[in-house]
Amino acid sequence: MINSRTIATPLVVLVTGASRGLGREAALQLAAKGCRLWLGVRDLAGSQPLVDEVRKRGGQAELLQLDITKPEDIRSAFEKIAALDGRLDVLVNNAGVMLDGGWLGNTSLTVSGATLQQTFDTNFFGTVALTQALWPLLERASSANVVNVSSRMGSNAIHADPDGPLKGAKPFAYDASKAALNAFTTHLAELGRDANIQVNSAYPGWVRTELGSDYADLSVEEGARTLVELALLPAGSRTGRFEFLGEDVPW
Ligand SMILES: NC(=O)c1ccc[n+]([C@@H]2O[C@H](COP(=O)([O-])OP(=O)(O)OC[C@H]3O[C@@H](n4cnc5c(N)ncnc54)[C@H](OP(=O)(O)O)[C@@H]3O)[C@@H](O)[C@H]2O)c1
Repeated sequence: MINSRTIATPLVVLVTGASRGLGREAALQLAAKGCRLWLGVRDLAGSQPLVDEVRKRGGQAELLQLDITKPEDIRSAFEKIAALDGRLDVLVNNAGVMLDGGWLGNTSLTVSGATLQQTFDTNFFGTVALTQALWPLLERASSANVVNVSSRMGSNAIHADPDGPLKGAKPFAYDASKAALNAFTTHLAELGRDANIQVNSAYPGWVRTELGSDYADLSVEEGARTLVELALLPAGSRTGRFEFLGEDVPW
């Protein structure tokens, strides 16, 4: 029964897709701020070194078997966090896939239904299902932040500009899934206002990870900054925003 809010020290944080890339780096930066990390990973054994690394940075860590497309993993995540911490201060919805075959891959005419489905399974349906399941734990924090890791590839405003920076880059499954994720941000932010839960979309920038490729502009350390900033927003701060390093990104 949820009837009172607890004081959040240290902050209890779940990062999905923590095994590598931006999720791993965001977890390490949050560890350095003294957070208690739940590391959502699909390969538990392979992620043990990450736990040691989090501890070295001054954080506490628990590994969580979490494929966000699996309802049983989501249920178990809720049960484990509820049992050990009883609340969640921060949810970083970072897990994501890009299955279009690159930025110049599938278009809206060539993408298959299967690729659309698989992309949405993780980037949208899984993220929504996990957030819904963990919402009662977020409500138990004195205040909480949800960070949806989005992309400017999900910006309809930028895509709508025929001469804009995304001209010719229209990988449809990925872009549509991030646009849908942005809709989740604005819709959930409204519900969060009454519950002291801030919900924002983060654009990390174009970052050198497996997904972003070696050609990207930013290091993973730079890319994780927006995620960490939005994860640690104090109560009464901004919500329902789409940001890159503190600047608004057009929806
Ligand atoms: N890199 C960029 O330039 C860029 C730009 C804008 C937005 N983003 C977004 O940033 C987020 C992280 O991307 P990244 O660049 O760090 O990519 P990445 O290096 O490919 O890492 C993706 C992470 O997501 C996990 N994952 C994939 N499907 C999952 C599922 N069904 N359940 C749980 N975890 C799953 C992966 O786990 P495994 O190790 O088990 O595969 C991995 O930890 C994504 O949402 C991406 O769309 C990235």
